Amino acid sequence: MAKEKTLDDLFHDTLKDIYYAERKILKALPKMQRAAQSEDLKAAFEKHRDETEGQIERLQQVFELIGKAARGKTCDAIEGIIAEGEEIMDEFKGTAALDAGLISAAQAVEHYEMTRYGTLKRWATELGMKDAAKLLDATLQEEMKTDGDLTKLADASANERAKASKAA
Ligand SMILES: [Fe+2]
Ligand SMILES: [Fe+2]
Repeated sequence: MAKEKTLDDLFHDTLKDIYYAERKILKALPKMQRAAQSEDLKAAFEKHRDETEGQIERLQQVFELIGKAARGKTCDAIEGIIAEGEEIMDEFKGTAALDAGLISAAQAVEHYEMTRYGTLKRWATELGMKDAAKLLDATLQEEMKTDGDLTKLADASANERAKASKAA
């Protein structure tokens, strides 16, 4: 018979998933920064790269709180999302639509993170782990803020530039 699994197991499993994802993202952000055309977008990716380092540290603290080693587990979802971002970098290189495409790829990453941190925070609360919930919420807020900032950059210029090139 299969061993009984509980919410604790789900929590640990999902923590490993996002730990893997964050480390992937940490490596992807500098590439996106280099690829971005506008200085504002480059700065946004750089800022979030720094934040991501702190987010990885928070996850290590959560692992410590549950008495487990900080270890990742391959996350196919983030692999796919990042691969799509790389495709955009290749296919739209040197075009006016590049930044709009990079923003869309980055927002797909943020939304994946938001769903993971949202779930983990809820489960931590459910399991009575207040400190873990606090750490996870701090990161969730950063991901939401980043997503909002990217929307602003898209609205402020990237989408318009991408459209304008077509008319030209
Ligand atoms: Fe993150
Ligand atoms: Fe993020």
